[in-house]
Amino acid sequence: MVTDETSATGDAVPRGVGATALGVTRLRAIESNRARPLAIDPYAERILEAAVPAGSEWTADRGAAEPRFFRLMRDQVAVRTRFIDDTIARAVADGAAQVVVLGCGMDTRSYRLNWPEGVHVFDLDLPEVLAFRDAVLSRLAASGGHRTSVAADLREDWPRSLVAAGFDPTVRTLWVCEGLLYALPATAAEDLLTEITLLSSPASAVVVDHITDSPAFAAAREEVSPELLELWQGGPEHVGTWLSGHGWEPDVRDLRNEAARYGREIPEDLAGGQHEVARTWLAVGELASTNPGVSGRRWG
Ligand SMILES: C[S@@+](CC[C@H](N)C(=O)[O-])C[C@H]1O[C@@H](n2cnc3c(N)ncnc32)[C@H](O)[C@@H]1O
Repeated sequence: MVTDETSATGDAVPRGVGATALGVTRLRAIESNRARPLAIDPYAERILEAAVPAGSEWTADRGAAEPRFFRLMRDQVAVRTRFIDDTIARAVADGAAQVVVLGCGMDTRSYRLNWPEGVHVFDLDLPEVLAFRDAVLSRLAASGGHRTSVAADLREDWPRSLVAAGFDPTVRTLWVCEGLLYALPATAAEDLLTEITLLSSPASAVVVDHITDSPAFAAAREEVSPELLELWQGGPEHVGTWLSGHGWEPDVRDLRNEAARYGREIPEDLAGGQHEVARTWLAVGELASTNPGVSGRRWG
């Protein structure tokens, strides 16, 4: 990945796929300033400021000329952020002692959430993405729970990097895959869950969001950039089958219904049941607490 753009603060701003994380951050910054936000990210604006040059398709505020993609995704990001925050809170209260955020991008949960004693959070992304985020947060003197950044490429041997960073496959874990699944080809999504499963002890869980594509949604992405158009690789065809096929008990929800619970409406183009309309899902998968086959299989 190229990182030849340098911000006013001297940080190398991630480009390519890593830059998409700045788009999500922008939507979280907007959400944080809403009257009744579903989640507040106190660092989002500061991360965007550090990513100047302004005018990037990811950071610029275009007011009424906001590309349709961002309008479509605004509440998707708000609802998924809250849903995942809530899932994390439940999992750690219920005994998960590790949380791994895969493709964390500019996610600041390891800093902004209240982490109980004894929970270890691993933030994994490409080296240049973490370098940028961590430099900004360190200047802000952000402090969080017990956390570790793991610089790794999900196309390579990331489990080895994770274990080398202190991850323990015998400990109950919550895996977070947010804004990631649809950027993977179906086979890569299968490989990803194979690796996650091999690293998971009984009663571990995984939380994901997923969007099935449509021509209208693709057109909205293309308005932003060719990169964003190409970012969508499809991921698993059915998120429930993807989870159950690897031994995870799936709880799959239509994001539209979750949004309604939070008093939000998802635009029709992202929430319909027709073929021409993209559809967005939230899902949690759980391994049985008695599952004998997993506990550190790869590493034991
Ligand atoms: C759309 S962003 C979502 C970021 C974050 N999960 C969130 O929701 O705010 C996708 C993230 O996946 C990361 N990513 C994509 N491909 C990756 C790979 N092969 N290895 C590691 N991270 C990757 C990108 O760098 C980027 O940070």
